[in-house]
Amino acid sequence: MSRSIKELMSLTGRAAVVTGGAGHVGREICDTLAELGATVAVVDRQDAKACAERVAKAFKVETLALDVDLSDETATRAVAAQVQARFGRCDILVNNAAFVGTSNLTGWAVPFAEQSVATWRQAIEVNLTAAFVLSQALAPLLSAQAGSIINIASIYGNLGPDWRRYEGTALGNPAAYAASKGGLIQLTRWLATTLAPRIRVNAISPGGIERGQPKAFADQYVAQTPMQRMAREEDLKGAIAFLASDASAYMTGQNIMVDGGYSAW
Ligand SMILES: NC(=O)c1ccc[n+]([C@@H]2O[C@H](COP(=O)([O-])OP(=O)(O)OC[C@H]3O[C@@H](n4cnc5c(N)ncnc54)[C@H](O)[C@@H]3O)[C@@H](O)[C@H]2O)c1
Repeated sequence: MSRSIKELMSLTGRAAVVTGGAGHVGREICDTLAELGATVAVVDRQDAKACAERVAKAFKVETLALDVDLSDETATRAVAAQVQARFGRCDILVNNAAFVGTSNLTGWAVPFAEQSVATWRQAIEVNLTAAFVLSQALAPLLSAQAGSIINIASIYGNLGPDWRRYEGTALGNPAAYAASKGGLIQLTRWLATTLAPRIRVNAISPGGIERGQPKAFADQYVAQTPMQRMAREEDLKGAIAFLASDASAYMTGQNIMVDGGYSAW
């Protein structure tokens, strides 16, 4: 008899690692996994401890806070040993940490001519290389458990920016962000065929999340989105639960667009 959908979605007894777990989307990812019963290691360079404590209290699961700068390869690799020592296993890895459009960096969210190679390199390190390093370091643990890797990409890893929306605003859309997310989607496919059948690897490409963007920008974004609104963090919970759990056991190498239909027309 096939398992019930509740059984398929259960993460009881599983252990997860979430990078950027203390950020806006990261917190929702930690909450989703913990609510379904997983223990969670929160990896972040800020607020990991507070986030891990909050999740442990709210969902009565074991958590681990790992204060890691993901641009440091040695520290990033060491996550695997720390997770093994604490949880003895790893079933789920969510590569979510990133330099995002609003990150306060020099040579980043500025006109193309002012975007710097130094910042490009930094962004590739965190957004793409760290996902490679962690997937490699955690592969032995993940393959012992029929693991799932989820890479958080973006519509901008799939599509170019529509600059008409940015006119008259201070918002930017860095080339390195697009290249890192496009790279992450292709890394997803590469890892999927390489790590199958023991580990599944999928991506989620969220659309723009409502964060108090300038009205003119938000209005245009909404007008270009069939669902007629920007995304909310909560919108990502379903895709995370699906990809992390056995509900998606026959799915690998895919990229789920959670974008309100932005890419559908
Ligand atoms: N916000 C959006 O509209 C949007 C849209 C599409 C995709 N995404 C993606 O969602 C993910 C989460 O974005 P968010 O909006 O929650 O951003 P956020 O800035 O709130 O969270 C990012 C987290 O990553 C952490 N981080 C950054 N650099 C790090 C480093 N070197 N080492 C360790 N941790 C580091 C930050 O401390 C932060 O907690 C990102 O991958 C982003 O590209 C966001």
